[in-house]
Amino acid sequence: MLNAGAELPENIMKNDRIKTVACVGAGTIGSSWATFFASKGLDVRLYDIDQAILIRGYDMALENLVRMESMELLGKGEAEIARRRIQKQETLEGALAGVDLVQESVREDYKTKADLFERLEPLVAPGTVIASSSSGLLMTRMQSVLEHPERSLIAHPFNPPHLVPLVELVPGEQTDPAVLETAKTFFQELGKVPVVLKKEVPGHIANRLAAALWRESIDLVASGVASVEDVDNALRAGPGLRWALMGQHLIYHLGGGEGGYRHMIDHIGKSFDAYWKTMPTWTEIPDEAKEQIISGVENAVGDRSIQELVEERDRNLARILKALG
Ligand SMILES: NC(=O)c1ccc[n+]([C@@H]2O[C@H](COP(=O)([O-])OP(=O)(O)OC[C@H]3O[C@@H](n4cnc5c(N)ncnc54)[C@H](O)[C@@H]3O)[C@@H](O)[C@H]2O)c1
Repeated sequence: MLNAGAELPENIMKNDRIKTVACVGAGTIGSSWATFFASKGLDVRLYDIDQAILIRGYDMALENLVRMESMELLGKGEAEIARRRIQKQETLEGALAGVDLVQESVREDYKTKADLFERLEPLVAPGTVIASSSSGLLMTRMQSVLEHPERSLIAHPFNPPHLVPLVELVPGEQTDPAVLETAKTFFQELGKVPVVLKKEVPGHIANRLAAALWRESIDLVASGVASVEDVDNALRAGPGLRWALMGQHLIYHLGGGEGGYRHMIDHIGKSFDAYWKTMPTWTEIPDEAKEQIISGVENAVGDRSIQELVEERDRNLARILKALG
């Protein structure tokens, strides 16, 4: 993993040195990252290649802060203090000048990321770490265009990053382990829950789990077992509640009673063979299923707007986060 022979700059990403972050890309994820970093006391430069999205992303970041205060995730007056930490930058040069960390959140394709990486590297100091929000691309390929790939890694958040604690850290083959370690400590100190991948796989951990569950959720609707609403309810009112507390392994350790995970696997686990045998294995969403699930969701959502649903999600996420402490 260590980039053989690469000299790391002395000052590379020391935790206590990271005071200013550039959020490059101000869409759904970039604007939420801006909220997160500002709420944690860091100075944020927000940039997007599209000026209209930059303005919208900036406004969104500020609205997120106000909502965090109203949900008591920030103290009284803290949203206003955090607001002043976010600067909207109209040029990439302006966004990157003097930053300690770049959090890249541009479109999810290799070409867009590579073009940006090539443009941004000469504009940052040698010690600046370049973190990508990529949901599932491989860091080894992304970092191959960098002159100093050892300073780059994936820091993949879960939407919305200002509320959901998970961040998946994925090194590429050339990422320096010291950078990975420092990133882990950095995010931990900001209250995130970092998980580290020992090797790259498309989709990292959480999106692979989501992909498996999504395929089954689609198939249950497409094969007529249940409606979109009931499949979603089965998840959120059942296992979803436990998943906020424990992962699948630990849950099944408890499912085995006094015998623990071994008992669960040897006994109850056997019945899962029949489930797995009847599960779909397709790798592209079938066209007929696509139309069925879209109309199922439209039916379940009714006249609630996306904005209303986002606000409801964030309000309830805040309540769960507070309950979990
Ligand atoms: N949406 C999610 O749920 C989610 C969750 C975690 C991670 N991610 C990852 O975050 C990244 C961004 O996703 P998103 O959902 O915010 O996408 P988005 O489409 O909302 O935003 C992407 C933004 O990048 C901007 N952009 C494109 N090229 C640029 C460039 N060269 N310089 C500056 N800005 C540029 C676009 O104008 C756009 O506003 C992707 O890599 C995605 O995989 C997304």
